[in-house]
Amino acid sequence: MRVAGRLAADVLDMIGDYVKPGVTTDELDTICHRYITEVQDAIPAPLNYRGFPKSICTSVNHVVCHGIPGDRMLKAGDALNIDITVIKDGFHGDTSRMFFVGKPGIQAQRLSQVAFDGMWLGINELAAGKRLGDVGAVIQKHVEKNRCSVVREYCGHGIGRVFHEDPQVLHYGQRGTGLELKAGMTMTVEPMVNAGKRQVKLLPDGWTVVTKDHSLSAQWEHTVLITASGYEVLTLGAADR
Ligand code: MF3
Ligand code: CO
Ligand code: CO
Repeated sequence: MRVAGRLAADVLDMIGDYVKPGVTTDELDTICHRYITEVQDAIPAPLNYRGFPKSICTSVNHVVCHGIPGDRMLKAGDALNIDITVIKDGFHGDTSRMFFVGKPGIQAQRLSQVAFDGMWLGINELAAGKRLGDVGAVIQKHVEKNRCSVVREYCGHGIGRVFHEDPQVLHYGQRGTGLELKAGMTMTVEPMVNAGKRQVKLLPDGWTVVTKDHSLSAQWEHTVLITASGYEVLTLGAADR
């Protein structure tokens, strides 16, 4: 899991330089696909996962998650989440970050920061003996205090040899409730935060999730190992490890 996590983070470190006005999300997908398969000798987990047609997810502006790369050209002011999951030696590493094209708008920047801080507040709750409700509660509290909303239809998840497994890691909830954490568990924390209302809509392509009110959405994700004393984040970028 450490190796898979590091590889997923390496892809995000690599792709940042390519996020520029005029690039299409398909081009970002191709670059990541080649890097994962040719340089890392790993497998892009999204490709053909339940019929998903591409190797990465690119979720632009009001897209909440699971955006399918396509011929859309990015332009200055766009904000997007790039979500990378790789399989190495049978294990999954899953991580996503927000990227800005050109100079970020003030609202997008603030929203991204709220999602980022929410994710870290949630991760900081992780330790053997704590409960999943502790994670959800702290994220929800932070997001709502900042007059944003938490998406409820999608959540973090257990991860290992399987991409998405139990438990569900909700990004809202009540302290002291839910599954008790044990050392050795691996899971993701990946709050989706909307600038407007929390409701979402699935587009007819069967994958792309957008905000119902067309407000901006932001997401950050790490894969984390629970340890006896706390946690170890498996998907830190090179700058943070
Ligand atoms: N990487 C996403 C997650 O964080 C899942 C993407 S599934 C896909 O769980 F099929 F859309 F790729
Ligand atoms: Co995930
Ligand atoms: Co992901």
